[in-house]
Amino acid sequence: MTRAHLDKSPADVAAMFDGVAGRYDLLNDVLSLGQDRLWRRVVAAAVGAGPGDTVLDVAAGTGTSSRTFAAPGARCVACDFSLGMLSVGKHRAARRPPSPVSFVAADALCLPFPDSIFDAVTISFGLRNLADPGAGLAEMLRVTRPGGRLVVCEFGHLPGRRLDAIYSRYLAAALPQVARRLSANGEAYSYLAESIADWPAQPELARRIAAAGWQAVRWRNLTMGVVAVHQARRPGPHRP
Ligand SMILES: C[S@@+](CC[C@H](N)C(=O)[O-])C[C@H]1O[C@@H](n2cnc3c(N)ncnc32)[C@H](O)[C@@H]1O
Repeated sequence: MTRAHLDKSPADVAAMFDGVAGRYDLLNDVLSLGQDRLWRRVVAAAVGAGPGDTVLDVAAGTGTSSRTFAAPGARCVACDFSLGMLSVGKHRAARRPPSPVSFVAADALCLPFPDSIFDAVTISFGLRNLADPGAGLAEMLRVTRPGGRLVVCEFGHLPGRRLDAIYSRYLAAALPQVARRLSANGEAYSYLAESIADWPAQPELARRIAAAGWQAVRWRNLTMGVVAVHQARRPGPHRP
């Protein structure tokens, strides 16, 4: 499950996100027509952090979702390898103290955490960007406690080949154009369209999550499958 064909090294990916960091959240809101807020609410409910829980948000970017995972009474560690994205998130968190989110620079393929320490691990719009998503899923399993939860939020495919093909053409044509008007980095959004088209459909992603060692894998489509939220559990005793 490597993605060498997308032709970007991890350093290129980090630099690309450094370049869009300042306007990243604004562009998300515009390009998704505000739907990203709904998607993030669904993801937070799926993560379902309770008091005392520690959640790891992998490839957290500016930490837009991380704060929602931390409420109420839980803590969230937001990690990412783009220092630009982390820096925007840290500055924003500093304006709203006390922050229940800690920002950590880390590569998702080699997380700097001991085994089995998080109650839940989640990744939103990040798995697709990893050089090896299968290795990322295995690394997330390692740091989750037995019985702990995984929530993956990613772009999906629409039902039916024709509809999905029309949607892919729309993404390839419209995304970079809109992004170029709002950001100096339209190239990053051509990559976004390509990486969405190239990403496996929901059943195949579920199969790959299970292949990495997770159990009870299921998913829910949002906005007709534009986005899918996959949930799974690390094998082990289940604690409510
Ligand atoms: C599309 S952004 C998603 C950010 C955030 N999760 C959100 O929902 O807005 C993808 C993020 O993945 C990060 N990323 C890609 N590969 C990574 C890796 N190997 N380790 C850590 N972060 C990575 C990028 O730096 C970027 O911030």
